[in-house]
Amino acid sequence: MPQTILPWEQGTFPLMLAPMQGVTNRIVRKLYVESVRPDAVFTEFVRIKRELRKRISAADRLEIEPVGDVPLIVQLIGYGAVELTEAARQMVDAGVQHINLNLGCPFGRTTSGLTGGNVLRNTENLPTILAGLRAVVPGSLSVKIRSGYADPRQIFELLPLFEAVGLDFLILHPRTVVQKYTGCADHALTREVVQATSLPVIANGDINRTAFGNKLRIDANPAGLMLGRGGIADPVLFQRLRGQAPATPDSAERRQILGQTLTGLLPGYREIFCGDHQILSKLKAVLSAMGVPELEAEIVRLKRIQKLDAFAAAVNRLLP
Ligand SMILES: Cc1cc2nc3c(=O)[nH]c(=O)nc-3n(C[C@H](O)[C@H](O)[C@H](O)COP(=O)(O)O)c2cc1C
Repeated sequence: MPQTILPWEQGTFPLMLAPMQGVTNRIVRKLYVESVRPDAVFTEFVRIKRELRKRISAADRLEIEPVGDVPLIVQLIGYGAVELTEAARQMVDAGVQHINLNLGCPFGRTTSGLTGGNVLRNTENLPTILAGLRAVVPGSLSVKIRSGYADPRQIFELLPLFEAVGLDFLILHPRTVVQKYTGCADHALTREVVQATSLPVIANGDINRTAFGNKLRIDANPAGLMLGRGGIADPVLFQRLRGQAPATPDSAERRQILGQTLTGLLPGYREIFCGDHQILSKLKAVLSAMGVPELEAEIVRLKRIQKLDAFAAAVNRLLP
């Protein structure tokens, strides 16, 4: 199959690791690429401030390096069309192929401007932002979007813009921005969006189990799936969805996988974060992003530990 501009091969069904601020840094992405190989991975969002930056920061430069040949999609969040376009241009100059705009984060700063999901409160500027990005991104340009700000059907008003401006795909998390993480992702809506647009739609939201992902694939017919909290709690879910691992882990396997994930992260976290306190708090951020009830007791127990050595020892005891 010829490689397209998309970050996946035509005719394949990509399973992507979601962008998660405070979680999917380069150490986490490397662990996933080397163990379960998602078909595409994302940076955490890169915040583009109103003041133009002369060049990409050294920290961001480290984060925009792909691991191996798994496509890395760099996610931007911001609201100034000029600033976003300039940031994207610099990213492209630095070798970035795939840019995604965050239109979903429900925790945007509303005082200094509408960013993330709050852009959906007033979409007046969106055509200019997207046209500016499209003009400088020769690779794939995509958005990651909630179904609407307060109205879950707002997405249908935006699809003609996304098509006209030449987006390559979109990722839909079918909750509204005001809903934050309450209730359930409405994948009946995902199905409707898939039917309403010619763009590939990647389905995201509450895909925590193999059966759920497989059913969603059949019911909504998306172009691919994106795993967030479910994939953090159980990285093997990528393989389960490909039929390469048993569909359902028992509780002993879940604990073992948790141990392997945290053990796998420790050396890298010791390298990029400073001091035991910061390393521990970053590891706990990973634990907080695992939305799986079966691990709740273990997670609470680990999060109570105050010293890195004691944490590492407790993690070690999860291994077989
Ligand atoms: C801790 C955390 C951080 C997140 N950070 C981002 C982010 O940087 N960019 C983004 O587009 N979405 C972010 N999200 C949303 C996820 O990418 C995803 O859309 C959401 O969690 C729903 O998918 P899930 O049910 O598979 O977790 C974040 C979610 C969580 C829980």
